[in-house]
Amino acid sequence: MSVPRYKWQPTTRDIARDLGIPESTVVRFDHNTSPYPPEWAAAPAAAAARRLNEYPGANYLPLREAAARYVGVEPTNVAPGAGVDEIILLAARAFLGPSRRSVTSAPTYPLYRIAAAQVGADHLEIPAAGPSFAQPVDALVDAAADADVVWLCVPNNPTGERIDIAAVEEIVNATAGVTVLDAAYAEIAGDRWADLVAGHDDVLVCHTLSKGFGLAGARVGFGVGSEALVDALDAVRPPGSIAEVSSVLAIDALDHPERMTANVHRLVTERTRLAGSLADLGFAVLPSAANFLLCHIGPTAGSIADALFARGLVVRRFPSGGPLAEHLRFTVRSPREDDRLLAALREVL
Ligand SMILES: Cc1ncc(COP(=O)(O)O)c(C=O)c1O
Repeated sequence: MSVPRYKWQPTTRDIARDLGIPESTVVRFDHNTSPYPPEWAAAPAAAAARRLNEYPGANYLPLREAAARYVGVEPTNVAPGAGVDEIILLAARAFLGPSRRSVTSAPTYPLYRIAAAQVGADHLEIPAAGPSFAQPVDALVDAAADADVVWLCVPNNPTGERIDIAAVEEIVNATAGVTVLDAAYAEIAGDRWADLVAGHDDVLVCHTLSKGFGLAGARVGFGVGSEALVDALDAVRPPGSIAEVSSVLAIDALDHPERMTANVHRLVTERTRLAGSLADLGFAVLPSAANFLLCHIGPTAGSIADALFARGLVVRRFPSGGPLAEHLRFTVRSPREDDRLLAALREVL
């Protein structure tokens, strides 16, 4: 049986080897991760490493409690996972299957489509129109009426658009089944969704430690929803997919949100600067509430991406022939790394 696969970008190691350059000179403008290594993580990781001979607690209770404190819900409202990616796959297993149907807009995060296909569900993507690629809220509301799952990405990847709370409520109220609200970039957008979850039993809000918290390598995320939704995810979870070290780091990060806030502050400041500089180069930069910028480049987008790649600067490109073929997406990184990108772009253009 052939099912669609999530296609990972080449690893930094492979890129460095192919280009014949040191790994440390490759910069990932395609992963939407934080450019700042979490210096604080070394001590708690070392302490947790001393317990690695034992299995972690199978119910992840300390992690559920930390996530609940952070969001402002009860631990019974939290379903942890190895990143939001695992929560998406668990949600597909719990709420979809053959003869069920999920709905989302396009472009959006590709794993929703893949997760639905992996469990044999129908999947409808409602296209958003350029040049803004704003999520088609009215069409989503119409399609939600017979959807078992609506996947809603807020802010949306790859556009950076953040639909407002009124539009989210409208979609949630129209959805026959469960709305899975992927809030991977919530910290960067400054969004809090506890009230939405409190008011609706059929919304699962997915958070990650990978973006604003800057812990992508730890692979921790969690879904927040009613006890019934959390129980449905727990019923299909694999045993022990979150490593103890990762759990310990996530708890430490969630209990010190001021570190995340400081990280987000510098990323948002840098986003404004980078957006201005990209616009000065003549690109149409879409407004973004996340840590990346989608730009309309024109027919040369692919060759510009190639030229950047040859310099060790990896940007996100999109399939030729598709609606975003003339676009590139740039992760906001540190001022120094972004300056390298801008200098390379000036050279290439
Ligand atoms: C919208 C969206 N959801 C989920 C993820 C994956 O998050 P995690 O690292 O928590 O699995 C990403 C990563 O880029 C993303 O953009």
